Amino acid sequence: MEYSNLFEPIKIGNKKAPNRFVINAMECNDADEEGNPTQKVYNRYRKLLEGGSGVVVVEALNINDRNLARKSQLSIMPRNAEPLKEFVTEMKKVNPDTILLFQLTSAGELANPEFSERYTVKPLPGFEGGKLLSEEDVMRIMDEFVTAARIAYEAGADGVDLKLCHGYLGSQILRPYNDRKWKYGGKWENRRKFAFDLIERVRDEVDDPDFILGSKISMWEGFPGGQGSAGPDTAVMDLSEPLDLIKGLEERGASFIMQSAGSPSITLALTQPDRKIPDDVYLHFTYQKRIKDTVKPETVVIGSAYSVLRNGKNNLQALDEDCKSLTYWGSKNIKDDIVDMIAIGRQSLADPKLPVKLKEERFDEINWCTCCDNCLEFLIRQKKVGCATYVKEYTQSLKQIRKEEGTLKEKRT
Ligand SMILES: Cc1cc2nc3c(=O)[nH]c(=O)nc-3n(C[C@H](O)[C@H](O)[C@H](O)COP(=O)(O)O)c2cc1C
Ligand code: SF4
Repeated sequence: MEYSNLFEPIKIGNKKAPNRFVINAMECNDADEEGNPTQKVYNRYRKLLEGGSGVVVVEALNINDRNLARKSQLSIMPRNAEPLKEFVTEMKKVNPDTILLFQLTSAGELANPEFSERYTVKPLPGFEGGKLLSEEDVMRIMDEFVTAARIAYEAGADGVDLKLCHGYLGSQILRPYNDRKWKYGGKWENRRKFAFDLIERVRDEVDDPDFILGSKISMWEGFPGGQGSAGPDTAVMDLSEPLDLIKGLEERGASFIMQSAGSPSITLALTQPDRKIPDDVYLHFTYQKRIKDTVKPETVVIGSAYSVLRNGKNNLQALDEDCKSLTYWGSKNIKDDIVDMIAIGRQSLADPKLPVKLKEERFDEINWCTCCDNCLEFLIRQKKVGCATYVKEYTQSLKQIRKEEGTLKEKRT
């Protein structure tokens, strides 16, 4: 098998993932009114765990119910502790070998004002109207993150991903655009303080070296003042801050970094490369390499955005046919020391069992994601999310939604 290195185990912190596949966090807006897992959530994750990937990152769990991006988002507050424990217990029965991480998040300015309160660190055009966060507000939010990490630990999760990407609160504080004069704004030492204090507090709260900590990071958000830009009013890329962030997280106990880019409410195609112009996947490879060159050998670098590569039937140019696929690039990037593990987002909705099918060479059975982005349309419309190409229930649901609500005006989360 030419891609056999994708099936080599790897250590993450004190635990071992059986292979190099990671299921990226994919929120599907199908929790109950309390933010607990429903049957739909169980079914989704059961399939993912049967799929045998090395790591599954459980989608963005909200740490409070004041500031929500999705109406039916999973949450992680004291009221969710028991249901989450039952969920993890069940998932560990399905597959005890896969590492199960919880992604913890707070929406900030991406909260939907139709049903939730928007928070802002400095109003960004297009996202106005939020409550300007004070230092006390940030302390409260940090307390909620720490409580959430303890709940994750007690539920039996193997670790947490402290989300610092895609324009959510973690991103908003880190961005150069946050040049407001306050404890968490202005100079870089202030903006990185939230992330550094957070990971230190989580490490103190869960004093177990086996509990894995890490973060998903947008290396460059791709708009003026976004993460990875050279200043508050320029989009020119400067990776010195994201790389310093990564070093600081590593020094404070992070054992993995999940690379990402973009802010899907603003620069969607940067986060999830567009099937018509998939070339941004190379930008992701470049970020992976920069991270890999920055961290210690034992810190695991996970690369995002591999879905667009598919089985090689993609729009990348100037390549031989057999040098275009997800398995080709995943395997090569690991061999070339660019990345340690590869994450699939959209592909995991199209086929949650990709890893096991590849391992057993059941190529005819694989549903390759077409990157049509119809699953994202559900999320944008605040509906339950699934693959509208391969899962009949969602094909029909999308048809019905479009009939009732018309075509989507803008493809942004
Ligand atoms: C429907 C949907 C839900 C997503 N939910 C999350 C999420 O909960 N947390 C997160 O960090 N990224 C989320 N993403 C982004 C993906 O995890 C991933 O970074 C992105 O899709 C690029 O990977 P891909 O090209 O393999 O799809 C979501 C994307 C989609 C399409
Ligand atoms: S709806 Fe389209 S983009 Fe989403 S998982 Fe299915 S094939 Fe992939």
